[in-house]
Amino acid sequence: MKVVKDIVQMQRLSQQLRLRRKKIIFVPTMGALHQGHLALIKHGHQLCSGTPHALIVSIFVNPTQFNSPKDFKFYPRTLPKDLSLLRHCKVDYVFTPSAAMMYPEGAETCVEPGALAQYLCGATRPGHFRGVITIVAKLFHIVQPDFAIFGEKDFQQLAIIRQMAKDLNFPVQIIGHPTVRESDGLAMSSRNARLSPEGRRRALAVVQGLREAKRLTSSGVRNVTRLKKAVRHILQEKGKIDYLELVDVQTLRPVKTIKQKTLLAIAIFIDEVRLIDNCLLP
Ligand code: PAJ
Repeated sequence: MKVVKDIVQMQRLSQQLRLRRKKIIFVPTMGALHQGHLALIKHGHQLCSGTPHALIVSIFVNPTQFNSPKDFKFYPRTLPKDLSLLRHCKVDYVFTPSAAMMYPEGAETCVEPGALAQYLCGATRPGHFRGVITIVAKLFHIVQPDFAIFGEKDFQQLAIIRQMAKDLNFPVQIIGHPTVRESDGLAMSSRNARLSPEGRRRALAVVQGLREAKRLTSSGVRNVTRLKKAVRHILQEKGKIDYLELVDVQTLRPVKTIKQKTLLAIAIFIDEVRLIDNCLLP
C-alpha cells in the first residue's frame, strides 16, 4: 500500500493504472475509519473481483463542507490507525493531500449543486453540499476512477454526487452501499466517537424512530403528519432535532402522504454531535 500526498503524483499513478488497463475503484473518506468505510472498500474489491483493478482510498477532512469551525476542529483525525486498517483491506493507494494543496491560495472555483440540495442537510447546512461536490469533483479529476463508492447513510450526498457526475459527464459509475450499523442498530459514523457513554445510549433513539416508522407503515399508516409525530415522540427528549422529514426518494422534496418509495431522514444533535440516519418506507 502506497501513501500519496501529492496531487500530480496521484494523477500520474492513476494514468499509469489506466494505461495498464486496470479498473480504478475509489472510496473517498474523511478518515476516522470504521467498519462502514471498510465495507465500501470490500464492496469495491467484490465489484471487480474478476478483473485487474486497483483500489484507491482518499483521506481528507474537507474544510469547505463544514458549517461550524468547531465541528471541523473536533472532527476525529486518526491517520496512523486508519492506515493500519487500510493495509488489512488490500488497498493499493491512499491519497492524503493537505488542505493547502487541495485549496491553494487564490482557488475560487466551485461546483454548485441544484435542486436536490434545497432539502434536508442542504437546508440546515447552507453551502455544505457545494463543499462536498467541489471536493468530490476535484478528487475525481485527480484519481480518475471507473467506479466510486458512497454510503447510503449519506443518502442526499449520494444523490447529489450521482447528479453531479451525470451533469458534468464524469466517466465514473457511482455505486451506493447500504448503511452499516453497530450490533444495536446505531449507524456507524466517525462522529459517534465524540458521544459520551450516556449520549451514545440516547443516540439509539434514532434507530428506534426509524423502526417505529417502518412498523407503522407496514401496518398501513400513510399519513406523514402521524408518522412524524410518532418519530418525534421517540426523539424529542434525546437531543435537539435538526430535521425530521419524509421526502420523495428521487427529488428529495417533502411529501404529505406515502404513495411510493419515501425516504425518512433524521438529523439530530446529541451532545452537540450531529448525527444523521435514514430508511426507506414503506
Ligand atoms: P465520510 O463521512 O468519511 O464518509 C465516507 C464514505 O463512507 C461516504 O460515502 C459515507 O456515506 C460512507 N459511510 C459513512 N458511514 C457509513 C456507514 N455507517 N455505512 C455505510 N457507509 C458509510 O462522506 C464523506 O466522508 C465526505 O463528505 C466525502 C464524500 C469524503 C467528501 O469529503
